[in-house]
Amino acid sequence: MHPRRSPKWCLTLCLTLGVGLSLSAGAAQSGLAYLGEELKALQADPFANPGLLWVDRGAALWQASPAPEVPACASCHGAPESLREVIPTLPRWNAATQRLENLEGLIRQCQSERQHQPPAPFESEALLALTTRLAHGARGLPLSAAVAPEAAPALARGEAFFRERRGQLGLSCADCHERYKGARLRGDRISEGMINGFPIYRLTWQTLGSRHRMFRWCNEAVRAEPYPFGAGPYLELELFLRHRGAVIPLETPAVRR
Ligand code: HEC
Ligand code: HEC
Repeated sequence: MHPRRSPKWCLTLCLTLGVGLSLSAGAAQSGLAYLGEELKALQADPFANPGLLWVDRGAALWQASPAPEVPACASCHGAPESLREVIPTLPRWNAATQRLENLEGLIRQCQSERQHQPPAPFESEALLALTTRLAHGARGLPLSAAVAPEAAPALARGEAFFRERRGQLGLSCADCHERYKGARLRGDRISEGMINGFPIYRLTWQTLGSRHRMFRWCNEAVRAEPYPFGAGPYLELELFLRHRGAVIPLETPAVRR
């Protein structure tokens, strides 16, 4: 049961959000547009962007054999850029398994099925580094709107999740990322909730985080129970956000507050 939004809560939220509310109608924008000048500059700096450390780590892992006799990612795939065209289409529908798969899931699948190794745990440094290296190779390409016809129900569920009120605070993703975009919330300026910068280096976290870590954080912000990494509802949400954010170019590794 999600309680209705209480007047007391609304008061607190509306006051906090009231300051600096500047709704910018028009084309969808990357979270980059909602950053202050300093963070924009940090993201653009090819030496100072802290996320680039993970790009380097990911490049090293891509080249390395994880164990004797085990082929490296590079031995089968060549350069990380060979997967460039695939990245903006993820998550995508797998007709054979009848499931959605995202980049983290595909990497873990190759680790277990092609390298016969235990897959890197979610949010581990290795998985974040490989994800970052691959997504970085696709930067500049726009997120794709394409959704397989079989994935239409998953897309609809993802959108429903985005618009459903949840948690003790009874707020939907859309409440914050559409209705209150541009408003300030505890020092953050609320963006449109785009996923084109992930994994992002978030100063609040002092590290890199995946899309699903962000979904968990946003769920917890309204005191809703978060889902596990890689869970079906988060894959559907990710599909919807990719579709919704289509045309916005990838900018991994983004820097966020
Ligand atoms: C109480 C308001 C609130 C709600 C509700 C909320 N978020 Fe957020 N979200 C934030 C804030 C604050 C940030 C950090 C500032 C920013 O980047 O927008 C954020 C960031 C994000 C980002 C990162 C954007 C970027 O450019 O890096 C994504 C993606 C996101 N949210 C998705 C969601 C999803 C999906 C939901 C619903 C499950 C949700 N949010 C619900 C407040 C909220
Ligand atoms: C033994 C060979 C082999 C190794 C080693 C390997 N892969 Fe793969 N990988 C494949 C094959 C084959 C596919 C399926 C390609 C296809 O369907 O076109 C694949 C698919 C993928 C995909 C999805 C790409 C697509 O076009 O659908 C990703 C992402 C990926 N691998 C990442 C990795 C990463 C990261 C590593 C190292 C941790 C790795 N792979 C190691 C053979 C390998």
